[in-house]
Amino acid sequence: MKSHTLLMPLDMHLHLRDGVMLETVAPLTSYSFSGAVVMPNLVPPITTKEAVMDYKKRIYAALGRVEEADDLLMADDFFEPYMTLFYQNYDRSFLEEVVDEIAAIKLYPAGITTNSEGGVSTFDLETMRATLEAMGDLKIPLCVHGETDGFVMDREAEFMSIYEMLASNFPKLKIIMEHITTQAAVEMLDKYPNLYATVTLHHLLMTLDDVAGGMLQPHLFCKPIAKRPEDREALLHVVLNAHPKVMFGSDSAPHPQHAKESCGCAAGVFTAPIALQVLCELFDAYGKLDNLQQFISDNAQSIYGICPEFKEVVLVESPFEVPEHYGNVVPMYAGETLAWSISDVE
Ligand code: NCD
Ligand code: ZN
Repeated sequence: MKSHTLLMPLDMHLHLRDGVMLETVAPLTSYSFSGAVVMPNLVPPITTKEAVMDYKKRIYAALGRVEEADDLLMADDFFEPYMTLFYQNYDRSFLEEVVDEIAAIKLYPAGITTNSEGGVSTFDLETMRATLEAMGDLKIPLCVHGETDGFVMDREAEFMSIYEMLASNFPKLKIIMEHITTQAAVEMLDKYPNLYATVTLHHLLMTLDDVAGGMLQPHLFCKPIAKRPEDREALLHVVLNAHPKVMFGSDSAPHPQHAKESCGCAAGVFTAPIALQVLCELFDAYGKLDNLQQFISDNAQSIYGICPEFKEVVLVESPFEVPEHYGNVVPMYAGETLAWSISDVE
């Protein structure tokens, strides 16, 4: 039986939510990943040091780690939630205070996706300069949801001029183009030394046709929307060839079943429990399994300068039946059989 071992898998863009949803989804990632960059788009969004620390404690609690006298005791599965703040203009003194608690700051254009109403409404350099310069000095990466409010298929490509403006004006700032979906974004990668990207699983697998070409598939609807075949090809090219500036970020974004299978479907694809299995199948199909380690962990370690706890995940080419539900969330490929499964985690 074919098998493949991954070391310290990292998910550099993950939605863990809160409350019961957090309890449902957090263990599904912590089981097979060493760490994940946790998105701050809660209601209200995470904008204070206290909110970062409280959310981290709730994540540990959802993983069954107990809290005693303010010390977090580690449970048996090692998993690091890399916390983020929701971008606003922050003072340098605040950033100095919070820098050790966060891995990045996530910028959302206002109203562009789930819980992003408090995001940035105009990209005015002068208003943002002090924050972005301080972030560059303190080595806090800026993660960006790069979409304008234009026509839905053009939103990411239209955002490229904003990436160029940010990358050229703040050369010390690491800018991560989150969940890129277009050839335009791929082409931007090598133009600026301080631009990086995450790519999701679902954008490597599907185009708009899979979402809306036949019967509408609400569980595949997400922001940014999946694009054209040539865009998917461009993503596959950099990912399968382990471009050093490209990291895996699932953007696994769970919503309750009723919010997806409804009039006014929430955006987000829930992929956390199937990501590693499907990535193995995909890389294997292209004869590129040896490049998966860089995409799933090594590139992220160098870009973020992180050193995750040791974790070894063994995958085998043996069928995995994807559950119809995890709690009240429907995963991608629900009820289908995948070719690869996780056989061991150490
Ligand atoms: C995300 C969510 O639900 O929080 N949704 C999505 O479609 N990706 C937000 C986001 O990353 O855009
Ligand atoms: Zn996201």
